[in-house]
Amino acid sequence: MLPKIILHNSISLDGSLTNFEVNMGLHYQIAGKYNADARLIGSNTIKVGIELFGGDVPPEEKKDFEKPERSGNLPYWVIPDTKGILKGLLHTCRRFEYCKGIIVLISEETPEEYVRHLKERDYDYHVVGKRHIDLKKSLELLSEKYSVSTILADTGRILGNLLLNHGFVSEISLLVHPVIVGNKSYNIFSNVNKNIKLKLRKKETLEKKYLWLVYAFEN
Ligand SMILES: NC(=O)c1ccc[n+]([C@@H]2O[C@H](COP(=O)([O-])OP(=O)(O)OC[C@H]3O[C@@H](n4cnc5c(N)ncnc54)[C@H](OP(=O)(O)O)[C@@H]3O)[C@@H](O)[C@H]2O)c1
Repeated sequence: MLPKIILHNSISLDGSLTNFEVNMGLHYQIAGKYNADARLIGSNTIKVGIELFGGDVPPEEKKDFEKPERSGNLPYWVIPDTKGILKGLLHTCRRFEYCKGIIVLISEETPEEYVRHLKERDYDYHVVGKRHIDLKKSLELLSEKYSVSTILADTGRILGNLLLNHGFVSEISLLVHPVIVGNKSYNIFSNVNKNIKLKLRKKETLEKKYLWLVYAFEN
């Protein structure tokens, strides 16, 4: 069976994923409630996150070439990165204490140099597509090899909308922020190519000004 996927995003009142200040504390507090076996995070999200919040990228040390040993209850971080845009950055993710381990999804067209980079650092990596990753194959792999049954997709519009278009998402969790972004909006759903009917499963006001909405898919 394919893992259950919850798409979790913080958005502005007008549905933007970017160009406003996300309440990271609340965002991750909600993410943690799902106790997911894996987080699925787009390579762009990781790259932008490091640029915005990571400060200077620290040089790699000897221990960055080894898999960390962390609690079995923590989630894997699963990152599709077929072009190798995270070369030289992945150790910042691996160091994150709430991540059990990194799984990188690549394709047959991934530069050989990046594959070598991953191999040398003992990252789990899997070739799961010709050019891009094949999402269904990737989900099957996570279920079969890593016993992943719940995935929290904490990603940007590109990967989030692909998951929606393929019908892989079971639930959408939105932390709505009281801000309008207007003409700089990067709309969360604007690459979705069909009408999707949902039912409201939860609505909660947080810190008097945020709204947490959970929608499930109608079968
Ligand atoms: N507010 C929020 O909750 C929130 C959360 C996350 C991110 N963000 C923001 O969103 C922005 C980044 O989002 P983004 O939309 O640019 O990208 P993204 O979803 O972070 O990354 C795109 C991902 O989709 C994969 N992909 C692209 N085409 C594919 C295909 N045809 N089949 C399978 N996989 C494919 C890419 O893999 P390859 O690398 O292999 O091409 C990449 O991993 C950042 O500004 C970030 O701050 C906001």
